[in-house]
Amino acid sequence: MKTFEKEDPRLEGIGWVPDSGPCSGVYVLARGRVLIDAGNMMGLVDHLEEMAPLDSLAHILLTHTHFDHVGGMAEIYQRTAPDVFVHAVAREYARLLRSPFPEFFQALEDAGKIHRVHDGQEIEGTGLKALHAPGHTAGDLCFYHEEAQALFSGDAVLPFRLRFSAILSKPDDLCGGRLQDKVKSLRRLLGLPVKHLFPGHGEPVLHTGANQIKIALVTLYQTLYENPPEKAWLLMAQDLADIGQPEEAAECLKKARALAPASQDVARVSELLGLSA
Ligand SMILES: [Fe+2]
Ligand SMILES: [Fe+2]
Repeated sequence: MKTFEKEDPRLEGIGWVPDSGPCSGVYVLARGRVLIDAGNMMGLVDHLEEMAPLDSLAHILLTHTHFDHVGGMAEIYQRTAPDVFVHAVAREYARLLRSPFPEFFQALEDAGKIHRVHDGQEIEGTGLKALHAPGHTAGDLCFYHEEAQALFSGDAVLPFRLRFSAILSKPDDLCGGRLQDKVKSLRRLLGLPVKHLFPGHGEPVLHTGANQIKIALVTLYQTLYENPPEKAWLLMAQDLADIGQPEEAAECLKKARALAPASQDVARVSELLGLSA
């Protein structure tokens, strides 16, 4: 298990079990009391016990209920029975998992172990606030730790350099995923002070986490608006100006100007924002 307190003392008590193959990474917080996602790796419990005895595990917070994020629960519940925190919509989509997982979730429900989490909810005893971030699925949650400026993003934001990042975070329409919701969610996350990004797949991005949100959003704009090519940069410039980052907004305007030197839209947005392209 990898820890991060050497990089930033505010990350003390956080551990990461990296993803391998078809499974998400797993984050351990509060010295073993809290997990974010359960991955789907062999021997998860052994990794977890490197930090604390499994009995200390009290909460599993789920970013969503895709199999690669919940499969590891089977191994955990053979030994202990933590409470599960999940968005109501993601709980619904657990019925699409392969058997026996729908029955497993129902058994947890019957035992009073499932807690439905709403947007903005502080998860007691964790220092984390849940943020509903639909787009990849309709029930995605991110978890934000304000003090550490750390965002646990599940599949809502994945590191740009990760192979298959676009595939792993794309909207899953069976689970209510929609590109337009993803735009809204990323715009909202862009407004958060995010120093450290702890994604559901790939390596954590320390110190420059916010850049990953920016890259994810502009890439999405480029997917949605291929033509004219400057449009993605103009939208990004407006978003960055909205959150009080005029220098970065001006950089986006320059990119738009380079792509379309004679564009009236570039001139109009530059004037609107009071910035030169
Ligand atoms: Fe995933
Ligand atoms: Fe997913």
